[in-house]
Amino acid sequence: MADEVVKFKVTIDGIPVEVEPGTTILNAARKIGGDIVPPAMCYYSKLEGSGGKCRTCLVKVTKGSDKDPRPMPKLVASCRTTVMDGMEVQNITSPEVVEARKGVVEILLINHPLDCPICDQAGECKLQDLGYEHGAQNTRYEFERRTFDPISLGDKIQLHMNRCILCYRCVYVANQLTGEREHGVLYRGDHSEISTYIEKALDKDFIGNVIDVCPVGALTDKTFRFKNRVWFTKPVNAHRDCPTCSGKVTLWYKGEEVLRVTARKDEYGEVEDFICDTCRFEKKNTSDWVLEAPTQVDKESVIGANHYLQFNPPSVIKENKKLQAANAEQLQRTEPLK
Ligand code: SF4
Ligand code: FES
Repeated sequence: MADEVVKFKVTIDGIPVEVEPGTTILNAARKIGGDIVPPAMCYYSKLEGSGGKCRTCLVKVTKGSDKDPRPMPKLVASCRTTVMDGMEVQNITSPEVVEARKGVVEILLINHPLDCPICDQAGECKLQDLGYEHGAQNTRYEFERRTFDPISLGDKIQLHMNRCILCYRCVYVANQLTGEREHGVLYRGDHSEISTYIEKALDKDFIGNVIDVCPVGALTDKTFRFKNRVWFTKPVNAHRDCPTCSGKVTLWYKGEEVLRVTARKDEYGEVEDFICDTCRFEKKNTSDWVLEAPTQVDKESVIGANHYLQFNPPSVIKENKKLQAANAEQLQRTEPLK
């Protein structure tokens, strides 16, 4: 008989779940899903070693385990704390956690400019969402904010250090996806900043993924900047036969024009498959892609405000037999071509 897999039983906000030993509290909560999942600004399931930097995922462990039921004396980072059998955790049911999260958001916003009206990340910014949920109306900070000049990281990526929350995700992307250390965090404490070595351009294939993993508008796509607000665009899943990556992307349309190409993201806003720079920056014609279906957008997202579910292919498909053949399956689900 095969060995039975040991599972730990954990309760989060009163909801029980069974997970494998070594699972973090955050991932146990994600297994349950819904409102009880702590927000995560620095943890990224696809990036090894991520987490433990931002403290937005703090939770309260009210019972350590069945063996040692004592509560943990302080709130813990759920992305870095693994579960024990019988552990009981509080997230949104703990007023202490909610209060602490407000404090974390206040700290994250101390140096972050409130420039959402002109920031390209607006509408898909995790800090903006957190600010709405937990932010105070006024700041208590009286000192001068730290500011930096925008830095051009090559011809495709722009760094606005003023908006960076030092989550390190982009550093992990560079280390883990491009096989070469491209940039890192210089200095410590209040002086910390993301920088390349003597501002060397980030030009390795796959480096464009730093744009997708950045939770705020610190790293933006120069080929898309200021072209449109995301909620006026229509995301459509598409794929191509790419020799370098999975070729599975989301195309962001405005009318017939593809304004940008991004990786597809899951319900936590994390990339499903990292995509190469050729797919991201060089393939902006509908004819480069086989369209699949409108991207399912989380109903909470402002992007959903302009969302549509009907497959409405751009006219370039209607005029091109080859593209019609490539999209035959999707076209069957729509109105006949006129
Ligand atoms: S630039 Fe963005 S991804 Fe990189 S550390 Fe700053 S906030 Fe995180
Ligand atoms: S997500 Fe856990 S500390 Fe940032």
